[in-house]
Amino acid sequence: MNRTLLAILFFILPAFSFANEVEVLHWWTSPGEKAAVSVLERQLNDKGIKWEDFGVEGGGGSKAMTVLKSRVISGNPPTAAQIRGKGIQEWASLGLLTEIDDVARKERWDEKLPPMVSETLKFQGHYVAAPVNIHRNNWLWVNPQAFRKTGLELPETWEDMFRIAPQLQKAGYIPLAYGREPWQASAIFESVLLATGGADFYRAAMVENDPEALTSKTMMKTFETMARIRGLFDQGSSRRSWDQATQLVIDGKAAMQLMGDWVRGEFLLQDKQPGKDFLCIPAPGTKDAFVYNIDSFVMFNMPDEQQKKAQQSLASLLMNPDFQIAFNLKKGGIPALDFIDDQDMDICARKSRRDFNRSMARGTLVPSTTHGMAAGERVQNVVSEVVSRFINDPNADPAKAVKQLSLAIKALK
Ligand code: GAL
Repeated sequence: MNRTLLAILFFILPAFSFANEVEVLHWWTSPGEKAAVSVLERQLNDKGIKWEDFGVEGGGGSKAMTVLKSRVISGNPPTAAQIRGKGIQEWASLGLLTEIDDVARKERWDEKLPPMVSETLKFQGHYVAAPVNIHRNNWLWVNPQAFRKTGLELPETWEDMFRIAPQLQKAGYIPLAYGREPWQASAIFESVLLATGGADFYRAAMVENDPEALTSKTMMKTFETMARIRGLFDQGSSRRSWDQATQLVIDGKAAMQLMGDWVRGEFLLQDKQPGKDFLCIPAPGTKDAFVYNIDSFVMFNMPDEQQKKAQQSLASLLMNPDFQIAFNLKKGGIPALDFIDDQDMDICARKSRRDFNRSMARGTLVPSTTHGMAAGERVQNVVSEVVSRFINDPNADPAKAVKQLSLAIKALK
């Protein structure tokens, strides 16, 4: 190859490939999550856009958010990033996000999304994020074999759970699979809080951060229940990831796991059938309520026109009904688009859609604290830290934890 041609390629190729690719920062790194990401990657490739993967290990996304901050501070933001809930407003208020109103208007997003979803995606009335699904957090994932073998009934309340736990342990099962990460503790806490106080109390404490709710008897009762939950874990449970905990349920070592429906992605990837090999039932005491989080992507401001076009194509793909169906068959959530027929969905997804609609009508649909939907990142982190320190320390005192949590949240205001 002659020198002139080499020089031309040197200048042209990077510009070409750079413009037609999107670098996407996310934290979908478990086997099931990776399978979902590859649906996205493939469908984007079909549009002629290359997916440059920037997956940051760590369920719940707190590591991903730290990496994102350092990339933005050093002037090197990715083209797009997975950001949820209140985080969208926080990033948009810094003036770093691109508005995607053109696509949203052309594709009539306002008509296709439930208002509580579209509101989450807007900053000052403009769309700055595109959703891919709705996850339910208050699910209990069950290995039915553990219940067949022991002849026990599925738990509907925490009292049921504490009653059956010794028999499950006697039969060799860990009652509840758990890995000692702060956000996993918080995931259990938000379901216990909801079971203890109901949806209005949950909102007062976690959305409004009302000092009275935060120091109430109901909050005390919540921590007392959390203290008893310690006895449901295996003694040696170390910092295992959420999907390692799920594996314990799949392998029949643990009877249950309380976790969002991304867990379904792990079961399905290992050819496990819902209703047969695993069951999904509401977390104890929360059958009439739904703790949601919405997965969505934001686009960072980019100087290049081609890149802007690639961002618009990505946003449009994320909102495509066929994409949302195919993606969520792997990911475990339900499509964010609410007109989608649920005939292709499995029994857990159909239950999720039904319970979402019912909870919305009843006023018992509440935003997840653990996943940044109820309050901003600082409150989210404080809740995770206080709750995980409490649950991981066998001697921690509920009254002290209530005080710590309310004071720490007050200090943020
Ligand atoms: C959540 C996210 C889910 C799932 C989970 C575990 O924050 O919304 O999509 O990936 O973390 O990583």
